[in-house]
Amino acid sequence: MKVLFVCLGNICRSPTAEAVFRSVVEEAGLTSVIEIDSCGTAGYHVGEAPDSRSMAAAASRGYDMARLRGRQLSVNDYLAFDYILAMDEANMTEVTQGDPGESGAVFNLFLSYSNQKQYIGVPDPYYGGKDGFGLVLDLVEDAAIGLLGEIKKRL
Ligand code: 4NP
Repeated sequence: MKVLFVCLGNICRSPTAEAVFRSVVEEAGLTSVIEIDSCGTAGYHVGEAPDSRSMAAAASRGYDMARLRGRQLSVNDYLAFDYILAMDEANMTEVTQGDPGESGAVFNLFLSYSNQKQYIGVPDPYYGGKDGFGLVLDLVEDAAIGLLGEIKKRL
């Protein structure tokens, strides 16, 4: 099962989701059956490490994002992945519009697997204050558990 998280820049939200979901999958002993990656709809930060604020917030909860590098969503991803999960509604529109038409992947908002109902999308923390990065982690940790439950039903 292959899961791809998608945000705009691939330096804040989707690499956070990648790191958190990898940790949840590891704890469940499913590393060998669930592959995880992330990308951005935009190419601004291709090849770059995640935002230092995201890495610091993640590290404070025990997640290591240091080795992740930005890349852009490509048409190959639509064929390669089983789940393509957008971090917000704008990302979801880009994912849907970029579909070459042969994808068997599930397209969904990542927070549709979340327990909370307040947020439909993960707010972009890039231009905001420090609190935004903690909120990203709160929302991502919650949705990661729900997503694992959903995927386990299909394994
Ligand atoms: P992300 O955040 O989509 O969560 O990675 C952003 C990162 C960079 C930019 C926008 C959002 N940017 O405009 O460079």
